[in-house]
Amino acid sequence: MSQIYMSGKKLFIPGPTEVRAEILDEMSKPMIGHRTEEFGQLFGRIKPKLQQLFYTQNDCLISTSSGSGFMEASIRNCVSKKVLNCVCGAFGKKWHSIALACGKEAEKIDVEWGSAIKPERIDEKLSSNEYDAVCITHCETSTGLLNPLKEISEVMKKYPDVLFLVDAVSSLGGTKIEVDKLGIDICLTSGQKAVALPSGIALASVSQKAYDKAKTIKGRGYYFDLLELKKSYDKNQTPYTPSISHLYALDRQTDYILNEEGLENRFNRHRQMAMMTRTWAKKRGMEMFPEAGYESDTVSCIINTKNIDLKAVKQKIGNKGYLFDTGYRKLNEKLNEDGKQTTFRIAHMGDIQEEDLANYLNELQNYI
Ligand SMILES: Cc1ncc(COP(=O)(O)O)c(C=O)c1O
Repeated sequence: MSQIYMSGKKLFIPGPTEVRAEILDEMSKPMIGHRTEEFGQLFGRIKPKLQQLFYTQNDCLISTSSGSGFMEASIRNCVSKKVLNCVCGAFGKKWHSIALACGKEAEKIDVEWGSAIKPERIDEKLSSNEYDAVCITHCETSTGLLNPLKEISEVMKKYPDVLFLVDAVSSLGGTKIEVDKLGIDICLTSGQKAVALPSGIALASVSQKAYDKAKTIKGRGYYFDLLELKKSYDKNQTPYTPSISHLYALDRQTDYILNEEGLENRFNRHRQMAMMTRTWAKKRGMEMFPEAGYESDTVSCIINTKNIDLKAVKQKIGNKGYLFDTGYRKLNEKLNEDGKQTTFRIAHMGDIQEEDLANYLNELQNYI
């Protein structure tokens, strides 16, 4: 294995992903007070680096929760009339469940899982003027599909009063997302995916338009009130005690991503790993699950065309020290019900290198 892994099984699942040893070391640094000067310096150092990672001038808020926290924050702070949720897999469905759980009026665009959300579908819905926000999943982790954010952003530009809320949990840090160019109002991600941090931290860029909307909304809740988060952010603080260990890790990892690996190299590495995986699958007579042309660079979802016993594969490759993903359970249940072939996933996101993936695929082909 290249780099410095300390985990038991090597993780080829779509999160949590492998965390480099030096990042794990950061997590064991002694605590500091979260109201101290030292903490303010740490927080202040991280902010501009996140802006680079998100390609934005917007604030990049940090929450030491998982990414779902910022999904809930987006809904609670940005929806008053009605939200349009784009569903092409499990995580699009999650947007809708969160909206309903928060008592918001919500409607869905539902496409077959594995298909992409096409911009025309959004345009058609928004022309009714009923919505104040659109929620979309960039990389639909359950199906390995990447939605066409750029084309969708062109449609969003026609509706400047509608907020554009993007779940980039399994893409940001592995795939370029130019938040300002795309006009994204909230772009959120979780640390445990392509950013390669231990789970328990989430990041979200928030536009002025999103803050302005929040000002008009009652019942924003307490923990994820964007206006409270902003007040603290401007003072290099958090409203409540954060996981300081995660902030140390984020400080180091953003240096690594921006200055040691470099963003473009990181995106290219993810692209290379995706190509390797697709070629490998094709050579073995298997097909990709997502609609052609919309395959993700961070996670590959492959149809089990040979009807291989995936649980047995998991067991066997587990004995060799790898954690195999037998596919997204609800997707496979759905496919089973429809009498279709099920899927499995190979995640190639975060800090694993081409060599690591090559070794994994080499081992995997003994069983698949
Ligand atoms: C696309 C996507 N959105 C949201 C989530 C939820 O993120 P978290 O588990 O960090 O709350 C996940 C988790 O796998 C995901 O893949």
